[in-house]
Amino acid sequence: MAKVVAISFGRKMSNTDVMLKEVLKKCEEAGHEIQFVRPDDLNIGTCTGCTACVVGIMSGRNNGECAVHPNDDFHIVEDAFYSADALIIGSPVYETSPTGTFKTFCDRLGPSHDLAFLTEAKKERIERDGDKALLPDERVFKPRVGCLLAVGGARTENWTIMTIPVMYECMMSTGVDVIDTHVYYGAMNVQHVLGVPEQMERMDRMAQNIIDALAAGDNDEERTKWRGEDDGACPVCHQSMFKVHQGAARVECAICGIDGEVTVEDGKIRYIFSEKEQARSRMKYAGKLEHRNEIANGAMTQKKVEGLAELKKPYLHIGE
Ligand SMILES: Cc1cc2nc3c(=O)[nH]c(=O)nc-3n(C[C@H](O)[C@H](O)[C@H](O)COP(=O)(O)O)c2cc1C
Repeated sequence: MAKVVAISFGRKMSNTDVMLKEVLKKCEEAGHEIQFVRPDDLNIGTCTGCTACVVGIMSGRNNGECAVHPNDDFHIVEDAFYSADALIIGSPVYETSPTGTFKTFCDRLGPSHDLAFLTEAKKERIERDGDKALLPDERVFKPRVGCLLAVGGARTENWTIMTIPVMYECMMSTGVDVIDTHVYYGAMNVQHVLGVPEQMERMDRMAQNIIDALAAGDNDEERTKWRGEDDGACPVCHQSMFKVHQGAARVECAICGIDGEVTVEDGKIRYIFSEKEQARSRMKYAGKLEHRNEIANGAMTQKKVEGLAELKKPYLHIGE
């Protein structure tokens, strides 16, 4: 038996909630433990950007605990997240993107729960302090698969466009392997998704994808393989959200941060991502490590500006 956790950013018992609960229901019927969490019902403080969490991890002082909101409810979401073998995160579409609470959740999850930051911290601390080392929560290192669901009211899919790509944010630093994503658009056409059987059936297929992935056990390739219904143009994340490098036949996957070559064959555009680029996607450990090293060798060793307090003074009250 594994544990499947759903985190909903939708209205209570509206479309997103019920679609996620359908997935949980099927997973429970297959013998898995389930949990449903609604961050909107909790008291979760916004990240103030103090970076005490990252500095704490990198300097060896702590394991990324939030210095500003030590007693809010974030630990409830964090515990649910870390207890999961499979996660399904669902968000309504607000202005083509996920909700503000979703972003707060990502910011609180962000660098402080980064798999590479914590893996390297663990190694360094064991080397340095041996048995006395202050080590991160072991659940950080547990492999997990994930699914993403976006629910948009608009009749056209194009009004949902940035939602799933942005939702990858909660899976990238935490190291969750995304196996399926789905966008239900046109939700305002019908009072409730319970009146749209094909959408509920799609959730049953998402549940089956989770059940099959969990059944793969230690076979990582089988467990983490893409099971979504659209292969997308990026071979790593299976989405198709690219930055176009102007004047060059190259694109960059917005989710993976990797470069691909653009060719046109028989009037069709092809995107070719080399094996080397695929390996450094931030959805993979090597990509996370590249970022971790960039921070460790940049932000942690940065050059100080002489007389900064004085230099700031003329700006203090501008426009205030
Ligand atoms: C602030 C706000 C912005 C919205 N923007 C979009 C949008 O850009 N695209 C879209 O498809 N739906 C948009 N919607 C509609 C919601 O996505 C829709 O009501 C959805 O069903 C909400 O999910 P829920 O029923 O699970 O709460 C917006 C709704 C709100 C409240």
